Amino acid sequence: MPASEGARGGEPETGLFRKPAILAGLLFLLASLSLGADPFLLPLHEEERPPTPVSGYESLSDELKEMQDDDFSNPGMMMVDLGRELFHQPRFSGDSCATCHGENGERLDRGRIAAYPVWDEEEGAPVNLQMRINLCLERHMDEFRLPYNHTDLLALETFVRYLARGEKVHVSIEGPMREHWERGRRIFHTRSGQYGFACVHCHEYYVGLRLRSLELTQAQTNGFPSYLLRSGKILNLHQKFVGCYQNLRAEPYEPGSPELLDLEIYLGWRGNGLPIETPAVRP
Ligand code: HEC
Ligand code: HEC
Repeated sequence: MPASEGARGGEPETGLFRKPAILAGLLFLLASLSLGADPFLLPLHEEERPPTPVSGYESLSDELKEMQDDDFSNPGMMMVDLGRELFHQPRFSGDSCATCHGENGERLDRGRIAAYPVWDEEEGAPVNLQMRINLCLERHMDEFRLPYNHTDLLALETFVRYLARGEKVHVSIEGPMREHWERGRRIFHTRSGQYGFACVHCHEYYVGLRLRSLELTQAQTNGFPSYLLRSGKILNLHQKFVGCYQNLRAEPYEPGSPELLDLEIYLGWRGNGLPIETPAVRP
């Protein structure tokens, strides 16, 4: 199947277009549904190459760039500090994260952190960084898994990702990751909500335009978890996805769901090569 034009099942439409538009539209919808194609899917990139990645950082005002770059004024650093504290907190097994990963996490591989989400053999599924931390709680510290975006997890995720700041994102889509990438790619190109927008509309077609006071960017993920000034909160990437779905008046997927994880894989790959900026500051 050519990567352009998703599998719209294109053929049946040609004959139908001579008939009244409404009937044709209806028949096309039925035809594409019965062919298993998705009428809400927009054309996918030719040869699977997204635009050259540009970090959302580039669209910040000088003032916000400064705020992000200066650890003393970056409000996201509060979450990093909380994460650092939790990193040293002994859990049920008696160990803290630092017992295995070093006082300042220096025994963690920064390059690996920049490669998340990765495939986890034992889970038989991809896991993102936060999920991986949860697995450490379960597998190595005799704890129960915490719910997705539990404050402890979000803080630990922010701290660990911060340790890899400056490291280049390199999400692999080899092997079993490929089908998740493909699903994420489709979600990114699928219209939803009252206005019939897809992510690709705002984050590729309209990049550089302003929506109210915000300049549309490529929706890169290298700064997450990031600090959103207008809500005064650190957001995990999935929370940001949900925010965008809500703005579209669409029913969002749950944070931590397989769908949002697939979207994270697609967007991570699409931003390969960008430096990690956690905690980024965004207006
Ligand atoms: C008893 C030892 C132990 C403890 C305690 C522990 N981990 Fe781990 N952690 C591991 C092992 C083993 C791995 C797997 C490394 C691998 O896959 O090569 C790992 C992997 C990770 C990774 C992924 C790094 C990579 O290379 O893929 C992160 C991030 C991580 N741990 C964070 C944490 C955090 C945060 C805590 C505290 C909540 C924690 N770990 C507690 C042993 C531990
Ligand atoms: C109607 C336009 C619109 C659509 C459609 C939209 N978003 Fe957004 N999104 C925004 C705006 C506005 C922002 C804040 C400015 C920016 O970074 O583009 C944003 C920001 C983001 C960011 C943060 C970028 C950064 O650097 O911090 C991500 C990630 C993102 N969106 C993902 C998505 C995903 C995934 C979808 C599809 C489910 C989506 N968006 C659909 C308007 C949109």
